[in-house]
Amino acid sequence: MSRLLSRRLFAAVTIAAVPLIASMQPSATAAAAQPSDPRTILDRVFSVAQAERGEQRFKQSCSSCHRADEFAGSAFSERWEAQTLGDLFAYISDSMPADDPGALKPEEYANVIAFFLGQNGYPVGTDDLPADAAVLKQIGIVANPK
Ligand code: HEC
Repeated sequence: MSRLLSRRLFAAVTIAAVPLIASMQPSATAAAAQPSDPRTILDRVFSVAQAERGEQRFKQSCSSCHRADEFAGSAFSERWEAQTLGDLFAYISDSMPADDPGALKPEEYANVIAFFLGQNGYPVGTDDLPADAAVLKQIGIVANPK
């Protein structure tokens, strides 16, 4: 193995280790199908309880300007597809609510993202989506095939 290749492999393993381990817990069978694929929002990245907390927060902090269905179906996937949850997290953390940007706690922004995923029918897991930009950057936004 060339030195460059082994260095790349080492880097890939190091970067992949944390999200891979996390994704294998609630959905070992789904994740095991293609373990080397990057994680996406199909990989059971949020919990029902978190989505419910996010819905409450959305009603309190976002619904004066937005309807929930602005973040549903093709409106959601076309706006955010091919980006990552890190991009969405950064955007809403930096810019929303538009009249008071950054007013929510990081966990509350993550909860609102879980609410968006839940109302779009993405697969539910047992763990909350972490309010951790580095982890969220590793989770791709893809259309929901169902
Ligand atoms: C005071 C009004 C207001 C509030 C409250 C508000 N927003 Fe927004 N939001 C806007 C406006 C205006 C835009 C469009 C900004 C642009 O296109 O530059 C926007 C755009 C967005 C977008 C990007 C467009 C899209 O469809 O994906 C997201 C995501 C978003 N808001 C999420 C939220 C969330 C989450 C909250 C609550 C934490 C929130 N907003 C609260 C006014 C608001």
